[in-house]
Amino acid sequence: MPLSLEQKFEKMKSIRDRLLSFRKSPLYRYRVENKYFPVVGEGSHNAHIMFIGEAPGKTEAETAKPFCGRSGKVLDEMLDSIKLARKDVYVTNIVKDRPPENRDPTPEEIKLYSPFLDEQIDIIQPKVIATLGRFSMVYILELLKYKNPINSISEMRGKELVCEASFGQVIVVPLYHPAVALYNGSNKGTLLDDFKILKKYV
Ligand code: URA
Repeated sequence: MPLSLEQKFEKMKSIRDRLLSFRKSPLYRYRVENKYFPVVGEGSHNAHIMFIGEAPGKTEAETAKPFCGRSGKVLDEMLDSIKLARKDVYVTNIVKDRPPENRDPTPEEIKLYSPFLDEQIDIIQPKVIATLGRFSMVYILELLKYKNPINSISEMRGKELVCEASFGQVIVVPLYHPAVALYNGSNKGTLLDDFKILKKYV
């Protein structure tokens, strides 16, 4: 059943409130000690395209906004390249609190935080989920019970994978994490090419 914008807003607010007091997470103390925020997500609750990254970095945890640091600048550039406004998509992460030293999220953290992401997917009901990086690709394809083998991200990237969610069909487009474009021009070219796929779903 599609939700009204008001219902979506209320549900997102409930997620934010639960995250604010998510004391059972091993990242909660680190958040409070550093005066960081949980990063819930940002964008249109009616977005056709949902971008899912890994976990917030320092700038994100300081501002409560996903992808607003150096990787975020790359994401903005990619969105600009296909004339897609950030306010028209929804951007979030699997893990909602910053892991220390920007380390990879642990399996335990993914398990703890992913139910919030699952709820967000059901709220937004996107046509397309664009995963940013390996963690989010594996998590989403396993969640949606993708029927073929999940290979490395360099083999899977730029493909349109048809999956079924509780609310209907979703196309999963695995993309490199924007951070890979920071130091490697050829990865940036690949990311720019792969973003073109998203244009038709706007
Ligand atoms: N990297 C991510 O995966 N997510 C962010 O929000 C920022 C950097």
